[in-house]
Amino acid sequence: MAPAPRSRARSEGFICATCEATSLRWAGRCPACSEWNTLGPAPARSAKAQARRADGPPALALADVSTDGTQPLPTGVSELDRVMGGGVVAGSVTLLFGPPGIGKSTLLFQVLSSLAATGLDVMLASAEESLAQVRGRASRIGLVPRNLLAIEGPDVEAIEAAVERHRPALVVVDSLQSVSDPELGQPAGSLAQVRTCVERLTRMAKSTGVPLLLVGHVTKDGDLAGPRAVEHLVDTVLSFDGDRHHALRVLTSVKHRFGPAGEVGIFEMRDDGLRAVPDPGPLLLGDRMAGVPGSVVVPVLQGRRPLLVEVQALLGPGAGAGVGNGPPRPQTLGIDAARANLLLAVLACRTAVEVPASAQMFAAAVGGITVTEPAADLAVALAMASVITDTALPPDVVVFGELGLAGEVRTVPGADRRLVEAHRAGFTRALVPASMAVAPAAAPAGLVVHGVRTLAEALSLVQSEAGARGAPGTMPVWPTAPAAASL
Ligand code: TYD
Ligand code: MG
Repeated sequence: MAPAPRSRARSEGFICATCEATSLRWAGRCPACSEWNTLGPAPARSAKAQARRADGPPALALADVSTDGTQPLPTGVSELDRVMGGGVVAGSVTLLFGPPGIGKSTLLFQVLSSLAATGLDVMLASAEESLAQVRGRASRIGLVPRNLLAIEGPDVEAIEAAVERHRPALVVVDSLQSVSDPELGQPAGSLAQVRTCVERLTRMAKSTGVPLLLVGHVTKDGDLAGPRAVEHLVDTVLSFDGDRHHALRVLTSVKHRFGPAGEVGIFEMRDDGLRAVPDPGPLLLGDRMAGVPGSVVVPVLQGRRPLLVEVQALLGPGAGAGVGNGPPRPQTLGIDAARANLLLAVLACRTAVEVPASAQMFAAAVGGITVTEPAADLAVALAMASVITDTALPPDVVVFGELGLAGEVRTVPGADRRLVEAHRAGFTRALVPASMAVAPAAAPAGLVVHGVRTLAEALSLVQSEAGARGAPGTMPVWPTAPAAASL
C-alpha cells in the first residue's frame, strides 16, 4: 500500500482520481467509491477561485431580511388555501402527488380557473393530455376564463420559454412524469428526467418569481423512485389521496416551507369537479347503522385534522385453518393487514374472547379512508370482539388508543382534538387510554371520557352495558352523559 503522501496540499484535502470525491484525510481506499490507492492531493485552488472566495457575498443580519415576497396569493380554492397557509407564494414550487385518477388535474384546473376569474393570467403546461382533452374536462367544471392560457407538449424548454414570454401569475405543470429535457437522452418519467426537469423548473420559478404547481403520479405502494425523489428540491409537498370508488379526497401538506405542514383539506369529487367539504361527518358516518355488532367509530387524525371514521369487522365462513395453524389472517380494506393480524392475536391472547379457529375475519375502514394511525387499534380490536361476541357497542361512543402486545391501551397524540370533533358530531361518550382520562378538563362539556388501561377492561365495560341493557331495570355500569342517560 502506498504511504500516505505528506504534502503541502493537506489544507486543501485529497481527491479521488476515480470518483473525484474529496476528503480531508488521506486514506488508502477512497471512502466514497472504495477504490484502492486513488486518493491524491487536491490541486491548490486557482488564483481566480481564491479571488472569487474573497469577493463572496457578505453575511447579512437576518433581522434585516425582508419577508415581503413570502406573502401568499390566495387561489380562491378555500381548502387548498388553508392547506398552503393562505395561498401560493411568489417563486415557490409545490409538488402535488397522488395516485393516477384521484383528481389532481381536476383540482389544479380549478385552481387555475379560480385565479383566472380574478383577472390574473395563469398558465397550464399540459405534458400529458392534449389541449382538447383538457378543454373537455374544463367544460364539465364550468366557465373557462380567457386569461387561462395553455400549452401542450412534454418539452421543458418550451414550457420555460412560454413562462418567460407570458409571465403568468401561476403555472401548473401536469405531470412531472411526462415532461422531459430532450438533451438528456433518457425517457420521460425516468428519475434523471424528473430530477432534471424539476431542477430546471425550480430555477425558472426562482428567477422569474412565477409560482409553480407540479403534478406527480404516485402508485399506491408509495413509489419512492418517482416524484417523491424530488421532494427535497421543492418548497411544498402536497399529497392528494382517497379511494377512487368513493367521493372523498384528502389533501395534506407533507412539507411546507412557508407555514405549518400537516394541514388537511377535504374535498368531494362530484360530476362537476371537486367541492370543498368543511364538515366531512355526513359523508363518512351518514350511512352508519347504529347497534350493529362489529361497528366502532374512531376519531383519527389526518394531519392535524380529526376525522370520525367507522371501522367494521365481519366474521365470515373460513376455508378451515387446519389443526395447529391458528385462525386465518384477517382480510382488510383501508386498515393495515399486518396490524389487524396483530390486534386479533392480542384479542385472542389477552382477553377472554374466543377467536374462532377457522372463521375468516374481515376488517374495513368505511368511506374510502385509509386508517394508518395506531390510535385506531383499540377501535379495530373492539370491532373484532364485538362481531365475535355478537354484541354491538352503544351508538354514542367513540373509541381511540394504541394497543400494546400485552393488551395495554397506550397514549396517542391529539386527544383534545379528537374529543372536540367527537362531541361536535354528537357523540356523548369516549373510551380513551387511562393515562389521558386523568385530565378531564380538556374534554368538552357533555362528553363523558372514560379511561381504560387494557383491552380487557374496555371489553368488560362495553359488555357490561350490553348486559345491563338486556336486563331491564339494571343500571348501566358505564357512566353516561347526562343527556344520553337513556340507552
Ligand atoms: P383527474 O383529475 O384526471 O385525475 P388525475 O389527474 O389525478 O389522474 O380525475 C380523474 C377522475 O375524476 C376521472 O376518473 C373522472 C373523475 N371526475 C369526476 O368525477 N368529476 C369531474 O368533474 C371530473 C373533471 C373528473
Ligand atoms: Mg391528470
